[in-house]
Amino acid sequence: MKYTVSQLVKYDCKTMKIDDIIEQLGGAAAVQTLLGVGPSAVSNYRLRGAFPEYARVRIWQALKARGVHVNPETLTDLHDQPPSGESNSASNPNPLNQTAIGQSNARHPDTPQILLIISGGIAAYKALELIRRMKDKGWAVRVILTKGGSQFITPLSVSALSGDKTYTDLFSLTDEAEMGHIRLARDADLVIIAPASANMMARISHGMADDLASTAVLATGAPILIAPAMNPFMWANPATKANTAVLKSRGIAFIGPDSGDMACGEDGAGRLAEPMAIIAEAEKMLPGKGQLQGKRVLVTSGPTHEPIDGVRYIANKSSGKQGHAIAAALAREGAKVTLVSGPVTEPPPASVQVVAVTTAQDMLDASLAAMPADIAICAAAVADWSVDGAGASKLKKTDGAPPQLNFKENPDILATISSHQQRPQLVIGFAAETDDVIAYAKAKRARKGCDWILANDVGQDQPVFGADENEVHLITASGASHWPRMSKHDVAKSLTDAIIKELTHG
Ligand code: PMT
Repeated sequence: MKYTVSQLVKYDCKTMKIDDIIEQLGGAAAVQTLLGVGPSAVSNYRLRGAFPEYARVRIWQALKARGVHVNPETLTDLHDQPPSGESNSASNPNPLNQTAIGQSNARHPDTPQILLIISGGIAAYKALELIRRMKDKGWAVRVILTKGGSQFITPLSVSALSGDKTYTDLFSLTDEAEMGHIRLARDADLVIIAPASANMMARISHGMADDLASTAVLATGAPILIAPAMNPFMWANPATKANTAVLKSRGIAFIGPDSGDMACGEDGAGRLAEPMAIIAEAEKMLPGKGQLQGKRVLVTSGPTHEPIDGVRYIANKSSGKQGHAIAAALAREGAKVTLVSGPVTEPPPASVQVVAVTTAQDMLDASLAAMPADIAICAAAVADWSVDGAGASKLKKTDGAPPQLNFKENPDILATISSHQQRPQLVIGFAAETDDVIAYAKAKRARKGCDWILANDVGQDQPVFGADENEVHLITASGASHWPRMSKHDVAKSLTDAIIKELTHG
């Protein structure tokens, strides 16, 4: 049975059992490939009657690709789930709506799950205080202690405070059977690395995965907060500075280091930030805790693909980096974000409901299905035209002239949302221009009826499509302001701050 996107959100797949889902996905081997797990993991899921939380989006998308639609809303919204203990397969017949967590570490879905990574350095002892303070707040804390970290504090002292096992080894058979390093990474709402040594920062900035800590950082979809601690000369070293810049450009947040007397006898910047300061920063990054709590946001991202025939399509160079970064930044402020994305390889941001679409018409349908929303941000590069009468068969090459393609105009999603009966309070578009950027963007703002436009210069010498950085002009009713070139994550953060200011001060 097929459902349109607007029917999709209303359809609840109440009767599907985990075995049915595995069968629909092509059997256990196909699920292993889809999730990158071994046969024993799939057997465990069957026994528990639940897939792990991190796998839901991928399973939902794979089912959707096979024409089997489950409710993406209930599938992804942890906060709508009953507290653990009330949730079982009888009371909650949708097996995808359960998490595999909670077998040994049961928690209320509103309890933040923190993954704390403690790396080497004398400041590791302060991490014990950090664990205590996080537990005081009622947070669930799992800890990875690196080899370096265990030179300063013991797994036993960590476990005594966290109330959980301390994870140390990537290749531990027992740990893998009980938890699995991927699940350790994916179950977290927030990853905190405190203290983060210079070595740890260098390794994660290069994407190393040669121990449990670095592998978990690579595998997580959760926001990451780094609290560095090292000798002042090591912190000031250009290599550490470069690594810090790389990590920041990927959206990783930093707190500290503080300045003062160091254990090594030197003085300068390199002290671990105080535990309560780390917690205050962490609190801002937890899903549902920020200044946009209760706000519903629609974000479009990525390109659209418009079919020419059964195998060819028209696309563009949008990678989804900018739109996805915006969705992630808004979710970090507690907004309930629906990200309608064209075909991209960007990973789905944490705590965001992703609706994968292909064409401009799909994107419009999915965007309208996500209404009503308080804020809409159209960052997608939507094709202006599609091929009229594109069929399922491949166009044949003949000796005659090349085929004639007739184009028809695609719906304009931004303009449709701007004039919608349930128009969001704030509608924001993008403008990709090559000349007269500000003038064209101002005209576009008026023509499409949106409140703000972020104009980016996509001329030859301004790499924006697919790049990690962007330089934009924010056009509002009161004028234009220039944001110098910065990472797309920083653009997303600045836009989020501007939105908060607008909604709170008008
Ligand atoms: O994805 P990245 O690689 O990170 O690149 C980011 C980006 C360059 C794609 C992004 O920053 C950007 O500029 N997105 C808008 C690109 C675009 O299509 O601009 P436009 O000037 O053609 O469209 C203006 C606005 O109308 C945009 O908000 C667009 O989403 C919207 N639009 C356009 C056509 C259409 N049919 N429907 C729309 O909603």
